[in-house]
Amino acid sequence: MDNISSMIPYGKQDINQNDIDAVIEVLKSDFITQGPKIPAFEKSITDYTGAKYAFAVNSATSALHIACLALGVGKGDIVWTTPITFVASANCALYCGAEVDFVDIDEKTYNMSVVALEEKLFTARKNNKLPKVIIPVHLTGQSCNMEAIHKLSKEYNFKILEDASHAIGGKYKNEPIGNCKYSDITVFSFHPVKIITTAEGGITITNNTKLAEKISLFRNHGITRDQALMTEVPHGSCITNKLNSVITTE
Ligand SMILES: Cc1ncc(COP(=O)(O)O)c(C=O)c1O
Repeated sequence: MDNISSMIPYGKQDINQNDIDAVIEVLKSDFITQGPKIPAFEKSITDYTGAKYAFAVNSATSALHIACLALGVGKGDIVWTTPITFVASANCALYCGAEVDFVDIDEKTYNMSVVALEEKLFTARKNNKLPKVIIPVHLTGQSCNMEAIHKLSKEYNFKILEDASHAIGGKYKNEPIGNCKYSDITVFSFHPVKIITTAEGGITITNNTKLAEKISLFRNHGITRDQALMTEVPHGSCITNKLNSVITTE
């Protein structure tokens, strides 16, 4: 093909006047980053999914990274994902110093195969090489068999991080993907080739309060205004909840 305009586009976002007005409103406001639109956006995600906590970040890559950190992934750990995904689903484990391995896909859905997963777990247990975390990816919005993966997680003692980068709006057993019913954490991407876009953006979602506290810290450079987590008496006054979401300082 010689004419670039006749090629299939990599992505084509749909931006309307309301979107443009909303961006201009933020550009004219006091906060163009970390302002009140962030908790409002997070609330719209928890309202939609029914999950308890959501933490918006700059990309799903970051969302996966802080999710792995919150799950305690580190050197010596093993993380499994699917080979049919974007590299971020595996790289997040490498960022934490863990080893990555892949579970084969189901030939009908192209998602992680539960049969292959069960066989691999069986062998891994014998070889003392069980994964700490498994990252199923809901390819093109189609959910993995989460109930079966969740059942295996109880038998083989691993955590589940759903990479739902492609899947906001998708349903599993008639409920929204992202409700974390069968997982510890779910992430969505808001990159322009995804279902909805914030230009770049991602979000980490969980129902687990302890994980939410950790994710909040990792999202915020380890900075906290929760006095219970401080190693010294605060030098100024501060009023916040544990998740850094409401902040009033002097
Ligand atoms: C399955 C999957 N996971 C993660 C990502 C990373 O998303 P982002 O571009 O928001 O970092 C992508 C992006 O293409 C993806 O397709």
